Amino acid sequence: MHEKILILDFGSQYTQLIARRIRELNVYSEIVPYNKAGEIGPHIKGVILSGSPFSVLDSNAPRPDLEKIMGKVPLLGICYGAQWMARHFGGEVAPSAKREYGRAHLREFDRDDPLFEFIPEDSQVWMSHADSILGLPENARIIARSDSIPVAAYRMEDSGLPVYGIQFHPEVTHSVDGATLLENFVIRICGCRGDWTPASFAHESIERLRDTLGSDSVVMGLSGGVDSTVAAELIHRAIGDRLYCIFVDNGLLRKDEFSEVLESYRHMGLNVKGVDAKELFYKALKGLRDPEEKRKAIGKVFIDVFEEEARQLNNVKWLGQGTIYPDVIESVSVHGPSVTIKSHHNVGGLPDKLQLRVVEPLRSLFKDEVRKVGHEIHIPPAILMRHPFPGPGLGIRILGEVTPEKVAVLQEADEHFIRGLREDGLYDEVWQAATILLPVQSVGVMGDERSYENVVALRAVTSRDGMTADWARLPYDFLAKVSTRIINHVKGVNRVVYDISTKPPSTIEWE
Ligand code: XMP
Repeated sequence: MHEKILILDFGSQYTQLIARRIRELNVYSEIVPYNKAGEIGPHIKGVILSGSPFSVLDSNAPRPDLEKIMGKVPLLGICYGAQWMARHFGGEVAPSAKREYGRAHLREFDRDDPLFEFIPEDSQVWMSHADSILGLPENARIIARSDSIPVAAYRMEDSGLPVYGIQFHPEVTHSVDGATLLENFVIRICGCRGDWTPASFAHESIERLRDTLGSDSVVMGLSGGVDSTVAAELIHRAIGDRLYCIFVDNGLLRKDEFSEVLESYRHMGLNVKGVDAKELFYKALKGLRDPEEKRKAIGKVFIDVFEEEARQLNNVKWLGQGTIYPDVIESVSVHGPSVTIKSHHNVGGLPDKLQLRVVEPLRSLFKDEVRKVGHEIHIPPAILMRHPFPGPGLGIRILGEVTPEKVAVLQEADEHFIRGLREDGLYDEVWQAATILLPVQSVGVMGDERSYENVVALRAVTSRDGMTADWARLPYDFLAKVSTRIINHVKGVNRVVYDISTKPPSTIEWE
């Protein structure tokens, strides 16, 4: 059992970031809703209370039950967590005259406190709060101030263990020494050794899979993406050819992707069957224009094809899936203590239909950690560094009705864009790139003739996790080159535009 830092989630938008920062220290951290802390076992070395969109003064503010935690391990309350503890133990919290949002600087902090080791005076921190701590519990003392508030950080003791409250957010990068502060808490104060690494994860996960799966067989759908490939390789290393992989050609993949990816899977030694189901998908998409209807149709055919293939296998008891942590975190709903779990979007419905148990080796990892584990177990870089690609594929990048002819045009145009990005060393600079076929025709001249043909849009974004995104500032010369190549070489396209929208309010995909 690895040492662990438990994070009680009060619904802050930054909770996942706290977990990531701690894992970057090679310490395993887990997010649980504030009211589900459970028992503090010996492997839990510290507890962090997150921020929240609530005010501690709200009548329906989330209230953790700290009885089971206090006095067992060091505690760190961040923003709401700090205010909640201060108030709970007899201090005072009141609305600030003005909401403090943005950069501030730490002043007069206690140099001897281990929480501030290696942190310089005036260190910039990120504030985001509407209430302030005005009075502290009797046994607490201020250990840092900022320009505008008297209590930027406080410390109390409980059964000889430190309890800290900090008003700022160390987890966001605008808090310049925030990572050092978290390291101080996790390593120096909680005493974690940092025993959680991608290598240890891979090794233990394979052992665990071997135990869990015994002599059973597993079936799994692969998509060519990072998550399903890494998950499959871990299971493959545990049970070898008793893992049956299915890779479906839905006719909506990038140009040559099906054959290339299938080839890399075979090269990796995976027991994989490629299934050409293009015609079934095109048939189901005929006449459909609404994006959600197209998504549903694609999802349904996928399930039918997969089911048919899986039924031909004997003795399979498990369905492997590449679900990752952001898909399963139980995040606290801002509107109440009810918890929601996001279901995995691509293959929902399959396990019930096939009466299989689900095995998801990556359910505790963030995307960047999946890549590190993948690197550790030698997944080819072409797969590891691949841009995210949506399950419905080009089906949601052809606006309006999807036909095989349109797919062929889009594949050609997209191939020029992606190849160009690779040639100019830009592929790894952008988080995701896509070409979209618009349902618009425009006038052009080619040679002496007037043309009336399709428009494609190029989309390239930078992002951390796809939740927010900015359009990539690709060099003009690069865009010029790709545009010329597409218009000269792709029959049926006479105009190229570049999408300069951010997410939000736009999304990454157009449908
Ligand atoms: P949006 O368009 O919502 O996309 O900004 C965010 C990320 O999710 C991907 N995406 C999907 N992935 N099925 C998927 O598996 C879908 O229906 C789907 N829609 C969007 C998108 O490519 C981007 O990476």
